[in-house]
Amino acid sequence: MTNALSWTLIVIVSVFLLNNCIQSNIRTKVYQKQSFINKIRKLYSSGDSSKWPTPILDPMAVPHFAEIGHLPKVEFPADNPYSVDKALLGKTLFYDPRLSGSNQIACASCHDPELGWTDNKTLSFGHDRQLGSRNAMTIMNIAFAKSLFWDGRAESIEKQSHMPIEDQKEMNEHIDIATEKIAKIKGYEELFEKAFGSKSITKDKIGKAIATFERTLISPQSKFDKFIDGQSALYSDDEVIGLHLFRTKAQCMNCHNSGYFSNNQFENDGTSLLGSKQQDLGRYLVTKDPKDVGKFRVPSLREVTRTGPWMHNGAFTPLRDVLTFYSNGNPEPPKKKSTVHEGVNLTSQKSEMLKFLDLSSQEITQLEAFLHTLSTRNQRITPPVLPK
Ligand code: HEC
Ligand code: HEC
Repeated sequence: MTNALSWTLIVIVSVFLLNNCIQSNIRTKVYQKQSFINKIRKLYSSGDSSKWPTPILDPMAVPHFAEIGHLPKVEFPADNPYSVDKALLGKTLFYDPRLSGSNQIACASCHDPELGWTDNKTLSFGHDRQLGSRNAMTIMNIAFAKSLFWDGRAESIEKQSHMPIEDQKEMNEHIDIATEKIAKIKGYEELFEKAFGSKSITKDKIGKAIATFERTLISPQSKFDKFIDGQSALYSDDEVIGLHLFRTKAQCMNCHNSGYFSNNQFENDGTSLLGSKQQDLGRYLVTKDPKDVGKFRVPSLREVTRTGPWMHNGAFTPLRDVLTFYSNGNPEPPKKKSTVHEGVNLTSQKSEMLKFLDLSSQEITQLEAFLHTLSTRNQRITPPVLPK
C-alpha cells in the first residue's frame, strides 16, 4: 500500500517536473524568437541599410544586385525634360479616347488610377472588346524601368507610347491618323504651345508629353519606406519577419531588388507554358535568342498588392498563390516545357536561381504581409478637361 502510494507520488512529481521543463523550454524559445524579432526590427529600422543582416544571394544574382530601399529621384531624359505644362498635356492625351480608332478607348481605359493604374483584369480588352494576350502592367514607377512591356520590346517610354495606339487589339489607330485627329482639335493648340513653345502637333511631341506625364507617377512613401527610415513600431512582427525572409531564406532579392524592387533583367520564372494554348515565348519574341525563351522582365513589386491578377498572363490570383508557386520552386509542368515555333525547337529553362524553398504556411503569410507594405493608398486623380 505504502509502496503504491510512493509510486504514485513519484509519477506525479515526475510529470510535474517534466511539464515545468517543457513549459520553460517553450518560454525560452518564445523569448529567443521575440528577442530575434526585436533585434532584426532594430537593425532594419535603423535608417542605415549597411547594418542590415547579410542577404542570401545566388552568385548569379550578384552582378545585378542593389540593396532594396527608397526609390531614387526621377531623372528626366535630356531630350525630354520635365515641365508642368508638358505633364498636363501628357495627362490630357492619356485620357483622350480620340487617339483610338473608335474614339472610345483611352490609355486610361486600361491604366486606371483607381485600380493602381492597371485594369485588374486577367487579360485586358481593347478595340471591339478583343482580348489581348497579356496582363496590363501598372504604369506607376516606370520611370525606373530600363525597358518597357513584359518582354522589353520598347526601349523608352517615349517609343512605348505609340505602340498601344497602333495595336489592333488595343486602340487600333495609325499613329499618323491619331496625330491628325489631335491636330484638328482647336483646344490642343494652346496646350502644345505651352508645353513645346510652338503650336505644331507631331507624333513625336505626343509621345514626349505622354512619357513626361507617366514619369510623374511615382509611389509616395510606403509603410516600408517609413519603417526603414526609423519608424520601427510601424511594422507588425509578421511584416518584420516577412522582410527578413524576402532578403534571406526566400531569396526574392535575387531578382526583385533595388528601390524599384526589380533588377530590370529578363528571367525565366517557369511561367511560359510552352506547347499549350497559353504559350508565351516572352523575351524570345524580341531577340530570337533561344536562351530567352520564356523570359519576362522582372516586374517591380512596388504597389504589387494593387496590380493583380499577377504574372504576364494574369494566371495567378490571389497573391498567396504566387508565393506558394515560389515556395515549390516554380514547377513547370513537364508537358509544357517545349514547343516548335516557326520550325525551331524551343525549350523553356527556368532560372537556376529559383529553388525549392519549402516555406511554411506561416512564412508565406509573413512574406505576403511584407509585400502589402510596399503598396500605397489610392491617390485621387482629377481627370483632365478634354479640349474641344
Ligand atoms: C486595351 C488595354 C490597353 C490600352 C488601351 C493601353 N494599354 Fe498600356 N498596357 C496594356 C497591356 C496589356 C500591357 C502589357 C503588354 C505587354 O507586355 O505585351 C501594357 C503595358 C504598358 C506599359 C509598360 C509598363 C511597363 O512596366 O513596362 C506602358 C508604359 C503602357 N502600357 C502605357 C500605355 C499608354 C501610354 C497607353 C495609351 C497610349 C496605353 N498603355 C494603352 C494594356 C493597355
Ligand atoms: C529568378 C528571378 C526571380 C526570383 C528569384 C523571384 N522572382 Fe518574382 N518574378 C520574376 C519574374 C521574371 C516575374 C514575371 C513572371 C511572369 O510574368 O510570368 C516575377 C513576378 C513576380 C510577381 C508578380 C508581379 C506582377 O506584377 O504580376 C510577384 C508577386 C513576385 N514575382 C514575387 C516574388 C517573391 C515574393 C519572390 C521570392 C519568393 C520572387 N518573386 C522571386 C523573377 C523572380
